[in-house]
Amino acid sequence: MALHCSRTCRQYLLHLAHDHIDFRLPEIKALLSIQGKPFEPSANFKETSPFLRLNGLSEDNIRNIMGRTVCAKSAFELWGHGETTDELKSSLQKYPSESMLPFLQEESSYKINVYTFNKTLIFKDRIKKIDALDFLPFKGKVNLKDPDHIFCLLEDYGTDPNNIPDEPLYRYFGRWIADGQRDLIRSHSVKNRHFIGNTSMDAGLSFIMTNHARVKQHDLVYDPFVGTGSLLVACSQFGAYVCGTDIDYNTIHGAGKSSRTNQKWRGPDENIRANLRQYGTERQYVDVMVSDAAKPIWRRQPLFDAIITDPPYGIRESTRRTGSHKDIIKPPEDFCGESHVPVSMEYRLSDIFSDLLNFAAHHLVMGGRLVYWLPIYRPEYCVEMVPMHPCLSLVSNCEQVLSTHTSRRLITMEKTKEPEEEDALARLTDPRYGPYQGLDSFREKYFSGVTKRTGPEEARTPPDGRE
Ligand SMILES: C[S@@+](CC[C@H](N)C(=O)[O-])C[C@H]1O[C@@H](n2cnc3c(N)ncnc32)[C@H](O)[C@@H]1O
Repeated sequence: MALHCSRTCRQYLLHLAHDHIDFRLPEIKALLSIQGKPFEPSANFKETSPFLRLNGLSEDNIRNIMGRTVCAKSAFELWGHGETTDELKSSLQKYPSESMLPFLQEESSYKINVYTFNKTLIFKDRIKKIDALDFLPFKGKVNLKDPDHIFCLLEDYGTDPNNIPDEPLYRYFGRWIADGQRDLIRSHSVKNRHFIGNTSMDAGLSFIMTNHARVKQHDLVYDPFVGTGSLLVACSQFGAYVCGTDIDYNTIHGAGKSSRTNQKWRGPDENIRANLRQYGTERQYVDVMVSDAAKPIWRRQPLFDAIITDPPYGIRESTRRTGSHKDIIKPPEDFCGESHVPVSMEYRLSDIFSDLLNFAAHHLVMGGRLVYWLPIYRPEYCVEMVPMHPCLSLVSNCEQVLSTHTSRRLITMEKTKEPEEEDALARLTDPRYGPYQGLDSFREKYFSGVTKRTGPEEARTPPDGRE
């Protein structure tokens, strides 16, 4: 292998947060694809590992990822790695000195951190590990408070808390580049949100959805089941213009009963616009309207860069759609009154998802993404249950387990084709696109007692806004 390594053949190390594991790689892939960059992990990478080595990228690419990610904690320019101290040492000694020396100059200060995953080290042992790096040509002064450069020794003790090895399974050393955006999870917590509802989406997952959807500055994003607008809040944070609709008048107008335990009625300014104002993104607010997702009001043309939504499953909120003359219920023979036009009707889950995909196929721009949650009864799940559409390609499918029997899957699809007449026909005749009836029994199974206490909407924010 050539000793000299150009800028683009540098390897970068991402330290991933050890939660929402299923969602991490699709997030990183989406943030890379915003930059037109492929995902090139090291050959031996494991999906469950909190350490991810990436090839073929520049420091700017990494900074752009870190400016958006809520799944990665920190990023490093990797200077060396190996299973043992000797392997790490020889790998570090091979790192080109011209790439190292600019950060080790006499006039610059530095500090070295030690991070151990799945093990806590006492102070003395940390110092020993730092001392063992004395073969590196550091010339500057140590400054623990405000150094010019930060370096980190990262040790991986595996993922099993019941079986922690004495020695790390793997070691990395690198120059810290940037931290991710995990602070957003706390700063945007639903606990302190101005306007919340029973099913407000938690901040971390809202940002993950925004990233899976590749939302960018000046995009127009739409949520057809907008509720209290948690997904609009996350999208506006990354500079998108946001709009939404919901069938519920009170939710859209911020009226009716409050979801907070200590408050009976919603206050005068409890609405989605005020939520955006709370986070300084009101200028990104387009509007929200009362509208039934079963009867879209939008002109049939590509309008939205992304559609991000959390449809109702009928557990905590009803799955209703408005009735119309088409739904007239024939009066019984002995009833001499007018035919009855129902005010609202059941909106079956299979119809909700089929309508949503069809809407996305018509209203997304080419390459735009649809990101939504699909409730799953785990014992019966198979990948064929995920609704498909001839104009949308599946990008990722990530599970959030909620109980032994239930989960919800975050589905990301990308528009790859404009709808044509034959697509409508294919949806009627091709079994790949037919509505999966198994979805409709989700509510029944949820309430039949086979599930344990936590179901999808239990896992959503409880009424008092706790996450
Ligand atoms: C799970 S909640 C969405 C929560 C939202 N993500 C938030 O953060 O507040 C689903 C929403 O869908 C709305 N909904 C139910 N049926 C609908 C329909 N037919 N058309 C539009 N919205 C509907 C409900 O009123 C509810 O606000």
